[in-house]
Amino acid sequence: MTKIIAIANYKGGVGKTTLASVIAATLSERFGRKVLIIDADPQSNITEVFIPPTSFEKILGYARAQQRVFSLEWIVGSGEPIIYKATENLAVVPSKPEYIGLAKYLVVPAERVYSLRKEIDGKLSEFEYVILDLPPQMYGLIGPLIKMADALVTPVTKTSFALTALYFLIRDVRGLPPNEKPPFIGAVLTRFRTVEKANIEIYRRRARRVVEEAYMTYGMKWELEESLKSPVFESVFYAHPKLADIRALPFDPSENVRLIRVLRGKTRYSSQILNFVEPLTIEVEKRIEISEKVHGSGLP
Ligand SMILES: Nc1ncnc2c1ncn2[C@@H]1O[C@H](COP(=O)(O)OP(=O)(O)OP(=O)(O)O)[C@@H](O)[C@H]1O
Ligand SMILES: [Mg+2]
Repeated sequence: MTKIIAIANYKGGVGKTTLASVIAATLSERFGRKVLIIDADPQSNITEVFIPPTSFEKILGYARAQQRVFSLEWIVGSGEPIIYKATENLAVVPSKPEYIGLAKYLVVPAERVYSLRKEIDGKLSEFEYVILDLPPQMYGLIGPLIKMADALVTPVTKTSFALTALYFLIRDVRGLPPNEKPPFIGAVLTRFRTVEKANIEIYRRRARRVVEEAYMTYGMKWELEESLKSPVFESVFYAHPKLADIRALPFDPSENVRLIRVLRGKTRYSSQILNFVEPLTIEVEKRIEISEKVHGSGLP
C-alpha cells in the first residue's frame, strides 16, 4: 500500500520543502521507488524545484484544455489532478502561486481526507510513496491533511522557535482522535554544518525533550519509544550551499532539473550531498517500517 509521508512544521523556513524534495528525489533516483510529490503549499516552492518554467507554462495550458486542476483544488475535492511526470519514477501534483490569494479561505472538509486517501490508495496505487510538502501556519489545510499520513516528519533548525513550533504541532497531533493520529516518526535536524558536532548534540537533546514534554501533556509516551531510540533522527540534514540552489531552471529540454542531476551523481559536488542524504533517506524508510509494525498501516 502507498505510504504517505507528511513533512510539516508550523514554523516557516525550517527546510520542509528542501527536505521533502531531497527525500522524494533520493527515494526515486537512488532507490528506484515510485514517488508522487503533492505540493500542498500555495507558495509552490517544491513545484519550482521539479518543474522548469517552460514546462510549467505547458502545464497551465494543458490544465485549461483538459479541465485538470492543481493541487489545492484537488485536495478540496473540486477536480481531477494534474500529474506531471518529472522522471521515470518521480511525479508531481503541482501547486500554483495564484493559490496564495485563496489560501486564507481554504479549509479541507473532514470527509475529504478519507476520500482523498481512498483516491491515493486506488487510482494512484502505483506510487509506493506520496510526499506531502505542507505550508507553515495554514491550520485549515495542515490539520486535516496530516491525518491521512502514515508518517509525520518534522524538520527542526537551529532556532528555539522551531522547537516551540514542534511542541505545538505534536500537541495538536496527539489531541486528535486515536484513529486520526498520523504516526510521528521523528524530527530531523536541518541546516547544521558538519563541524557543529556539539551544537548538534545540544539540539538533539532539546528536540527530544520537547517531544517528550508535548506527549507528557496528555500523560503519554511517544509511541515508538521502545522500538526507536529517539524521536530525533540519527541522520542530520546538513547545510550545503548547493541545496540552497535547487530550483529547476533547465532551459534546454534535454537537461534534467538541478536536484535530479545532483542525485544522479552528475555534478562535481554530488557525492558530498549523497553522503548525508542517502543515510537520511534510508533512516526514513526504516522508521516507517518500524512505525507500521507498531501502529499498523493506513487509515482505519
Ligand atoms: N540543507 C540545506 N542546505 C542549505 N540551505 C538549505 C537547506 N535546507 C534549506 N535550505 C534553505 O533554507 C531556506 C528555507 O528552506 P525551505 O524553503 O526548504 O524551508 P520551508 O520550511 O519549506 O519554508 P516555508 O515555511 O516557507 O515553506 C531556503 O532558502 C533553502 O534554500
Ligand atoms: Mg516550504
